[in-house]
Amino acid sequence: SPLLQRLWRGKVSSGMLTPQLQLSLRNYLSANKHHVAYKGGRRTAQSPRELLCELKDQARLRTLDGSEQPFSSLGWARLVPRLALEKLYRQGGQRGFRSCAVVSSAGAILHSGLGKEIDSHDAVMRFNTAPTEGYERDVGKKTTIRVINSQILANPKHRFNTSSLYKNVTLVAWDPAPYAVNLHKWYANPDYNLFSPYVEHRRLHPTQPFYVLHPKYLWHLWDVIQGNTQETIQPNPPSSGFIGILLMMALCEEVHVYEYIPSLRQTDLCHYHEQYYDAACTLGAYHPLLYEKSLVQRINTGPERDLKKKGRVTLPGFSTVNC
Ligand code: C5P
Repeated sequence: SPLLQRLWRGKVSSGMLTPQLQLSLRNYLSANKHHVAYKGGRRTAQSPRELLCELKDQARLRTLDGSEQPFSSLGWARLVPRLALEKLYRQGGQRGFRSCAVVSSAGAILHSGLGKEIDSHDAVMRFNTAPTEGYERDVGKKTTIRVINSQILANPKHRFNTSSLYKNVTLVAWDPAPYAVNLHKWYANPDYNLFSPYVEHRRLHPTQPFYVLHPKYLWHLWDVIQGNTQETIQPNPPSSGFIGILLMMALCEEVHVYEYIPSLRQTDLCHYHEQYYDAACTLGAYHPLLYEKSLVQRINTGPERDLKKKGRVTLPGFSTVNC
């Protein structure tokens, strides 16, 4: 399809979307739920290297460390893991991960046969409720880090406390604060209440690495997407997928992303593990997915045949980029 061709070239615009998706984009723009007031510019001619350097500089990995109010008064300095996420895999002479896989939850990964390749990486990232059981051939069975949005913690239907999806892995949760990021307002009124489940989980499982991303990190990522896109993007946080890709670029020397930018298997099937069809899952409604994907493709160093056949993008880790 023309849209896929444009995505594979990193050149997209909202005009390529169906009228329905364009309408939903306009509705999110006028709602501006998170009170985004973007002050930066809109460059579009940055080279891949310049883009990488901007990301490396702007998107410094940051998690809540309990040093800021209201979290400091609530004792979070002792509640969060003692070792920062950036240091977790670098303790005792470890050098971090060499090669990492980020596995999107897109339906298009079904029948890919990518499982073995995915598991061959040093670390594998997955998202939200995406399972491996029953899908090993296509998505692999190893999970090192799971990025979860606040709905996973807040909504009992996800059985966060008991489901095996959230055990024996490093967990990284996120929830969007208002764009101006006032931690007091965020704590009083998160999108979905992740704070009490987080505290409870830390108390019950103090040895499991479990972090909450700093909302400033999310909005810095958003700023880089908007700052490198001509059109006005959805004023909502990036998708878990984009957040995870950037997180892995901070932890790994090389990152391989699977079926985030759609391969020739592209389908409206939303998730590989659910019978639900909606093109918005791949192209974006709430999240600025189309623009995220275009940005990721612009820094892709892998060949086009990897993209078409495997839906695979190869990205350098920040430690290997000299700016
Ligand atoms: O839907 P969910 O956010 O749990 O999926 C995890 C991530 O996988 C998304 O945030 C998105 O980046 C990616 N995804 C995608 N296309 C889909 C479904 C998910 O790119 N059809």
